[in-house]
Amino acid sequence: MNWKTKFPMFKNNPDMVYLDNSALTFKPYEVIKAGNDFYSKYSVSTRTSDTILGIRNIQEIEKVREVCGELLHASKDEILFTSGTTESLNLIINMISKLPLNKGEILISYYNHNSNIIPFIEAFKDKEFKIVYSDDEEDLISKINEKTRIISISQLNNNFILHHDLKSLYKKAKEVGAILINDAAQAIAHEEVNLKYWDAIAFSANKIYGPTGVGVLAIKKELMQKLSPAKFGGGQVNEINGCEWLSKDSIARFEPGTLNFAGIFQLKAAIEFWQNVGLDYIQKKEKELSIYLHDELSKLKNITIDSKRGDTIVLFNVNNVFSQDVVSYLGHKNIYVRSGVFCAHMFTKVKGRKPSYIRATVSFYNSKSDIDKLVDAIKKGGDFLDFLL
Ligand code: ALA
Repeated sequence: MNWKTKFPMFKNNPDMVYLDNSALTFKPYEVIKAGNDFYSKYSVSTRTSDTILGIRNIQEIEKVREVCGELLHASKDEILFTSGTTESLNLIINMISKLPLNKGEILISYYNHNSNIIPFIEAFKDKEFKIVYSDDEEDLISKINEKTRIISISQLNNNFILHHDLKSLYKKAKEVGAILINDAAQAIAHEEVNLKYWDAIAFSANKIYGPTGVGVLAIKKELMQKLSPAKFGGGQVNEINGCEWLSKDSIARFEPGTLNFAGIFQLKAAIEFWQNVGLDYIQKKEKELSIYLHDELSKLKNITIDSKRGDTIVLFNVNNVFSQDVVSYLGHKNIYVRSGVFCAHMFTKVKGRKPSYIRATVSFYNSKSDIDKLVDAIKKGGDFLDFLL
């Protein structure tokens, strides 16, 4: 099956080699149509709620909540819409920072994305909390103790891949009463993500073949009941009197302002598309391509691969050449990969990690021929890259 035929980006850019699927995935026709349909057929606000289209949109949004709930093994009342993983993480961290937690520790990972580190630094800076970093799966488990109040990691990082035992992690977190947060930005399109093992989950639509500017924050009911909103505006208010206000007691109290309706409908189309492709197929194909990528890169002289064979994120360097120079050379040959630390600066503090890498990540829509073109371009670039030494 040539999956590229389902994606207009490839029709319009037939020579493109796209291997930065960790940053963003392309959108199939169905997803683009769902956005067009909203703007051309149903484009009224859910606040215009006493009208045919207003009622239709309210009902459709609830259906998307159900679809997201099913995806995360959650109920629809545990699903909030946001603008993306970054907003989801900022919201949950800010809301938790307002809880009357005893002072203690926040346990995160060196491999966390900055959006799963900085909000903690900012929200807890005037509080008596210590941020503790872990550097692998065992270190994370061993650092959970009676003082741990929050644990926040990624089920699947956007750099080096760790394999957490999610059941044990959740069990250990609950033994000490810690809140457990999952930045599932990467995991969402490649693994099962299950709210059973977390208190909150954040993800972005754009990583699962959906639009930019839309995300989900899933919060377990027991936690959600204790939280108060961290953003304020229309749609969440029951009553205001001077400096006092009462919020609605529905999920609307966490979603002030006008939602990204088109994006939310596109997210539904994206999830349905992804489910139709099938997780088993996706995992098998992506594993096969990642191994091929690793093996073909290994055949080149002067390449160091730092990720493990079979990891679906492949991090490497051309020896003695700055990663951005390689990526810029490839980028001008229509080969899309990314260099640097991928907004996850803290992992460079782990012993043995380098200040910068080239990252290539496949999607099920990629082919071996994409990988051959990448490897071939690096091979041919030998002279040019040597010149940069
Ligand atoms: N943080 C995203 C990435 O990994 C954008 O590239």
